[in-house]
Amino acid sequence: MSILDKHHILEKNATLLLVASLVVVSIGGIVEIAPLFYLENTIEKVKGMRPYSPLELAGRNIYIREGCYNCHSQMIRPFRDEVERYGPYSLAAESMYDHPFQWGSKRTGPDLARVGARYSDEWHVQHLIDPRSVVPESIMPTYAFLLERTLEIDNIALDLKANAAVGVPYDEAMIENAKVDLMAQADPDADTSGVEERYPKAVLGDFDGDPTKLSEMDALVAYLQMLGTLVDFSSYDPTSGYR
Ligand code: HEC
Repeated sequence: MSILDKHHILEKNATLLLVASLVVVSIGGIVEIAPLFYLENTIEKVKGMRPYSPLELAGRNIYIREGCYNCHSQMIRPFRDEVERYGPYSLAAESMYDHPFQWGSKRTGPDLARVGARYSDEWHVQHLIDPRSVVPESIMPTYAFLLERTLEIDNIALDLKANAAVGVPYDEAMIENAKVDLMAQADPDADTSGVEERYPKAVLGDFDGDPTKLSEMDALVAYLQMLGTLVDFSSYDPTSGYR
């Protein structure tokens, strides 16, 4: 008597069949999903990626708080029209330190994944104060109040720590110097060697046009100016890796 002859036991017992089906489906599910938890396997390593500097992270928090993601995506899809408009399509590694990620699902405005270094700081500030003064047909809301609001920086080290807890490689020195690094990045007169060493390619300077004040505008513009600038696409070919 072969095992197939006993199959009628399964087929005639609805509960047993349900349980057995669930077991079989779960095995398939585990085989498919388990490898994804080992991030090394799913995210290709890319040169140049680093955690956000404290000022960039503070700016990112404002971006999230203000709901910019409701109108802007940060993911360039691998289609010709997108690549011609926005630049090289987004790599998984480029959002590996994003908690939560800002891919977005709606584009009322353009994708911002590579907006960094595309405009001057002055343009961004003017655009955020009054979008229609630089793009007359714009429907983007104004964010002039960011200029008036002093950036809250007392909890920035805790913010780095929280990110480290979910896997962002912030080390002891980065957490310890979080506040100093944050202030140095936005102060043209400060000693910036520490922040430059810890966060290569960090854009330095007074972003909002008022060197006497560290505003939320400073942080948001610092964040916008680094978006998509970390990976050097002149030495990276998405189809074959490094040249
Ligand atoms: C109601 C939708 C909406 C919201 C919310 C919004 N934007 Fe926009 N944004 C737009 C539109 C539409 C444009 C295109 C016209 C223009 O340049 O103003 C735009 C353009 C931009 C650009 C220029 C992009 C480029 O490549 O030219 C930047 C930068 C930008 N937005 C940043 C932000 C930030 C930062 C926030 C949050 C503080 C934000 N936007 C919130 C709709 C929005």
